[in-house]
Amino acid sequence: MPQIAPKHPRRLQRRTHMAMPRVMNDRHPSGAPWRNFYGRFKGKTLRASQERYLDEDLAKLSPGPVNWDDNPDRTPLELGALFGKRDVWLEIGFGGGEHLVHQAQTYPDVGIIGAEPFINGVAMLLGKVREAGLENLAIHPGDARDLFDVLPDHSISKGFLLYPDPWPKKRHHRRRFVTPEHLEPLARVLKPGAEFRVATDIPDYVRQTLTQVPRHGFTWVAEKCSDWREPWHDWTRTRYEKKALREGRTPHYLTFRRDQA
Ligand SMILES: C[S@@+](CC[C@H](N)C(=O)[O-])C[C@H]1O[C@@H](n2cnc3c(N)ncnc32)[C@H](O)[C@@H]1O
Repeated sequence: MPQIAPKHPRRLQRRTHMAMPRVMNDRHPSGAPWRNFYGRFKGKTLRASQERYLDEDLAKLSPGPVNWDDNPDRTPLELGALFGKRDVWLEIGFGGGEHLVHQAQTYPDVGIIGAEPFINGVAMLLGKVREAGLENLAIHPGDARDLFDVLPDHSISKGFLLYPDPWPKKRHHRRRFVTPEHLEPLARVLKPGAEFRVATDIPDYVRQTLTQVPRHGFTWVAEKCSDWREPWHDWTRTRYEKKALREGRTPHYLTFRRDQA
């Protein structure tokens, strides 16, 4: 098949696998599926200290080979080698890492993996990890879908999706995280009985979450209003939640339980 020169190079950059021009195929030459990613990989220029954290610390906090170039066979990660016998939790889209660090500090007997493609957020998290001297976390600086590929079935005991990108326009709702492309692999990697927490300030995102997540083997465990109006007992406000509150939006805290197989 002939290779096609990219008409819109900026659009190509938004794909998870962007090193080579796209061939007329649904896979990258490395074998990776083409996965559209509509978010940002990079924002404003990083401070020198943040560049240093990325250079010095990121590789040490790797959960193992996740990207297709490093792990073309998609061999599952060895979580036991990473965290021993600890339970493993997962935070998807950790932003600046406030919540990830808070959970890692609160639960030193748990290992937490965070996935975040926005490198400025990763650098912010690394600063916090240094300051707190944490060792019970691992970072995948990329798309959670690539991480799902290599997480063993039923290996994760708790999942967090906190203020996922809202994609307010109706035609963009299919970009939201609460779609089959994300929920199917998430359901596979979570243990039966695992908790899955979703926070959002967008009423229509609540609607889509409450419709879609139960279709993938989850039960919403709320019994009374306070169950979704009040945060979890071990919560800390994320950057995005603070912004939502400043702008007058109401947080919703949705707790699901992964059904037994
Ligand atoms: C609105 S921000 C919220 C960040 C943080 N959770 C908070 O509450 O402050 C959503 C985050 O999800 C990340 N994200 C979007 N798609 C993702 C994906 N496929 N895998 C992992 N993270 C993703 C974005 O880069 C962004 O940082």
